Amino acid sequence: MTISIQNIRGFSDVLPDESPAWQFVEQTFRHELERYGFDEIRLPIVEKTALFSRSIGEVTDIVEKEMYTFTDRNGDSLTLRPEGTAGCVRAALQRGLLHNAQPRLWYAGPMFRHERPQKGRYRQFHQVGAEAFGVPGPDVDAELILLSGRILRALGLRDVTLEINNLGTSETRARYRDDLIKHFQAHAEHLDDDARRRLHSNPLRILDSKNPAMAEVIASAPDLLDYMDAEAQAHFTAVRAMLEATGQAYRVNSRLVRGLDYYGSTVFEWVSEHLGAQGTVLAGGRYDALVEMMGGRATPAIGFAAGIERLVSLVEAAGSVPDKTTTQAYLIMTEPTLAQNALAIAESLRTQMPTLRVQVNMGGGSMKSQLRRADRSGAAFALILGPSEAAAGEINIKDLRGETEQYTVAIDRLPAVLSSFDSR
Ligand code: HAM
Repeated sequence: MTISIQNIRGFSDVLPDESPAWQFVEQTFRHELERYGFDEIRLPIVEKTALFSRSIGEVTDIVEKEMYTFTDRNGDSLTLRPEGTAGCVRAALQRGLLHNAQPRLWYAGPMFRHERPQKGRYRQFHQVGAEAFGVPGPDVDAELILLSGRILRALGLRDVTLEINNLGTSETRARYRDDLIKHFQAHAEHLDDDARRRLHSNPLRILDSKNPAMAEVIASAPDLLDYMDAEAQAHFTAVRAMLEATGQAYRVNSRLVRGLDYYGSTVFEWVSEHLGAQGTVLAGGRYDALVEMMGGRATPAIGFAAGIERLVSLVEAAGSVPDKTTTQAYLIMTEPTLAQNALAIAESLRTQMPTLRVQVNMGGGSMKSQLRRADRSGAAFALILGPSEAAAGEINIKDLRGETEQYTVAIDRLPAVLSSFDSR
């Protein structure tokens, strides 16, 4: 059978057998973020296009070629959010969250970028992001990095490494930018088309190129860290000292520039070796100029976002997704006329046992086919109700996974009996 309408390329379904890993990743983030004083904010998926082009930057890959932009019925240019920081800053400003406060906000949800899909790279993907506003010092940089490290450890991921850099101030970046352009111009014959196009608009991004033919010209380029002024230097040194004091390992990567224009000062990425080219699982940095650029009072800020799909594939490979622990019962009836009794028993069990997962057989079927469904459901045991048991207020329990013989219990005693199954 061919299904006439299929999903859009790069837009995935998360199937039931994958959702435990998703829930594990999402719940771990939520739990740790809340422990560090972050509060959840829920943001729209669609915003005005100008919000993204202004904050992410006109000459970034995202804005130039990856946004899902459309004109709505009112003639407004709207865009499916490609990331969460812009919308979070917009909401914080518009709703007055930054007045005399240092909000710490987190969000989660789908993001959209029209990239070429491959393993670890999708057109609809999901992020959990965190943003901390109003703190200029290196302490919050270090704490956010430590928080992200804690989350990755809680997910059972060991083979992820932390890379950090400092992009300096806009003045030092401008000087560096001029020298980079000179360097790349002097070696123009080694540049690919992408690099030529970016040479004047965004030369720092050339450093990110994965093209092996450009490895040498990139390796010989000037080093951003040589341009840092004393203040940025002191900030970077302090962040590093705090990481060292807490035992957090890192690698300084002076070529780490990030793909969004709003960054300055501290930037960082957590990279896995197991994901091939799409190895960055969590990334972020400071964006001290963005709030003011968007019309607010100058407010320092720093944040990060993690890619859920990439983390899901890592936790699955690491085998760290916890098993579902709830006891599961599957209720079978020998006569369809007992449906009313079966529903009442299941309702009463759910009320008395808040963590019990119980499913009632629906759509009839022979005893054999009902037992087959019970087995497929993953249930630990079947509850079998016949007319004589129903009349006597009893039910049969059949152990589907262990050795125990089938036996009969009073329905009143079911919660106690099922709890003992739970702890075996
Ligand atoms: P980003 O580096 O563009 O930063 O994205 C963060 C993470 O989202 C990436 O490291 C990756 O794990 C995941 N990701 C990005 N694009 C895709 C894709 N096409 N498919 C699958 N996963 C993807 C930001 O978005 C910034 N807003 C982070 C931030 C928050 N900086 C400060 N605050």
